[in-house]
Amino acid sequence: MTGLELTRRGLLATGAAAFAFPRFGFAAPFILQAEPVTAQILPKGDGTTQMLGLNGQTPGPELRVTQGGRLDVRFENRIGSDTALHWHGIRIDNAMDGVPGMTQDAVPDGGGFDYSYVAPDAGTFWYHSHSRSWEQVERGLYGPLIVEERDPPQVDHDVTVLIDDWRIDPDGTLMGDFGNMHDFAHGGRLGNYARALPSVSMVRRGDRVRLRLINVATARVFPISLAGVEGKIVALDGMPLPAPRPIKNIVLAPAQRIDLIVDVANVVRFDFPTREDPYELGRIEIDGDNPSPIDTEIVALPAAQVVRPGTPVHDLTLKMEGGAMGSRHEGDDIWAFNGVSGLPTTPFARFKRGETARIRLINDTSFSHGIHLHGHHFYEVAEGGTIGDLRDTTLLDRFETRDILCVFDNPGKWLLHCHMLGHQASGMKTWVEVT
Ligand code: C2O
Ligand code: CU
Repeated sequence: MTGLELTRRGLLATGAAAFAFPRFGFAAPFILQAEPVTAQILPKGDGTTQMLGLNGQTPGPELRVTQGGRLDVRFENRIGSDTALHWHGIRIDNAMDGVPGMTQDAVPDGGGFDYSYVAPDAGTFWYHSHSRSWEQVERGLYGPLIVEERDPPQVDHDVTVLIDDWRIDPDGTLMGDFGNMHDFAHGGRLGNYARALPSVSMVRRGDRVRLRLINVATARVFPISLAGVEGKIVALDGMPLPAPRPIKNIVLAPAQRIDLIVDVANVVRFDFPTREDPYELGRIEIDGDNPSPIDTEIVALPAAQVVRPGTPVHDLTLKMEGGAMGSRHEGDDIWAFNGVSGLPTTPFARFKRGETARIRLINDTSFSHGIHLHGHHFYEVAEGGTIGDLRDTTLLDRFETRDILCVFDNPGKWLLHCHMLGHQASGMKTWVEVT
């Protein structure tokens, strides 16, 4: 992989994250207050960072609900500017999707919004600001959202691992301006310091652990190598794989997730492979031995109730254009889809509820893009035309083309955009409408 200029100074030895785990399914709304927070992003002693967070922390609290349960969140905005919360990957009611100007008004400072919805799929999701997201997500306005299976697989620990990077000075100050056109025209705001934050810091040798990796970075694609465990990949973007897969070639685009079920043999390490020594993103330490390890086979999670694609009634092309070394000019419209930069007044496509569309994604640029569709999951079409993985965000390397198949069965107005958030901000976004 290229572009790794991460500094190796003072990497954390243990996950220091202190997550709260509110559970839903009871009547009272959970209050989630967005506010400025002071965070220890760098190792202790290296200075704190002024960030944005929720309920006093960044990442925000981990929200947990059982599949089919309802989340009731009273969102309060105290960050000093407009915002809104988007629930990434959840096949949600359109009115709850959290997109200012499309599904709701922006929540002004001092205001609030009641989010209430049923979580249809069990899996690993997250929430994040969808307002000036290239800045607000960078500054920490996000958190994990876990939807538990009604009958979850047996594990000793269920661990969420948020992966992020920051462009940060040694004194802890976030560097430079956020809306930097040079970043926007290239790979986005890549950090110089990166970490994987596991929600537990200790496990026993022999424990069976579910790992839920979430790339919450605004721009960086993370290849991850895992050490100290043996196991299987069981889900991508919150969607169970039909058969567990061997652990190799883990690559997470911004917003993508991967779930693994593993047995711990040694210190669990999350590494960013490089040509030299790997860059250690984080680890889970060993504390003793599990006297009675779970030794059942790792099997598939219960399948999601996603409609299989029918014969496509729409054949569409979405061509990514622009950026540095591209054919467009720099300015406000750095990136475009099919020649259109920024959110058009008419949708890229209109679908009748239940229609299947094939969309050819063409990356005609010198950069990677992680293309995300709101409100739906779609199938990547694999080599040879077979139906591949079910995702909500698909990574296209430079000059790569991929078809996706989607059943548009969720009514409403849905964004379709690059999840490299600076690309989204500088033009790479459109929308579809399902009626
Ligand atoms: Cu994760 Cu449009 O967002
Ligand atoms: Cu992009």
